[in-house]
Amino acid sequence: MKFFLDTANLDEIRDAASYGVLDGVTTNPTLVANEGGQRGFKELVREICEIVNGPVSAEVISTDIERMLDEARELAQIHHHVVVKMPLTEDGIRATKKVSEEGIKVNVTLVFSPSQALLAAKAGAAYVSPFVGRLDDISNIGMDIVREIVGIYKNYGYPTEVLVASVRHPVHVVEAAKTGAHIVTMPYKVFKQLVKHPLTDIGLERFLSDWGKTKK
Ligand code: E4P
Repeated sequence: MKFFLDTANLDEIRDAASYGVLDGVTTNPTLVANEGGQRGFKELVREICEIVNGPVSAEVISTDIERMLDEARELAQIHHHVVVKMPLTEDGIRATKKVSEEGIKVNVTLVFSPSQALLAAKAGAAYVSPFVGRLDDISNIGMDIVREIVGIYKNYGYPTEVLVASVRHPVHVVEAAKTGAHIVTMPYKVFKQLVKHPLTDIGLERFLSDWGKTKK
């Protein structure tokens, strides 16, 4: 399973990348805005691409087909790691089809149902992002949608990779892995939680203390 970090914060990305297990990054307009705009959007995306050796999603903010196409082409020029994020709207699907045919990789985002995911795959998206946390928030089981999408894509051999998004805690990561989804993108906080187990800390403390008592 591939691990992506869901952030536009350069320090978080550098730290996660230092583990050697980071496969990519996803950003969205909210995450970029959270960084306070000291750098321009394109400059920020370029810097992220230089840190991470893998796909970096950057989202279009236009909602009409012509401007979506222009934006997608501009974003794709920033760096070869850039994957253009398109919202799952009617024009988003049209734009996905068009730019995918031009060789631009698209991550279709804001996906909340298997029917939307089918459309994304048919339009040639490289990635589809079902949002599990936001579904859980409204009393739906987000992971059920992921399981259905993975199954449907397998039935037809779609090459679109399932990128589990809107992850809130480590259990989401494990549940996503059980579905066979290709990728999970997680906030930095969740990434840092993955390593934690109190028995590991207690066990290490005991090993080191016992070692201290042995004759060397
Ligand atoms: C990922 O691509 C999305 O931008 C992100 O996971 C959304 O997460 P949220 O629901 O926590 O905002």
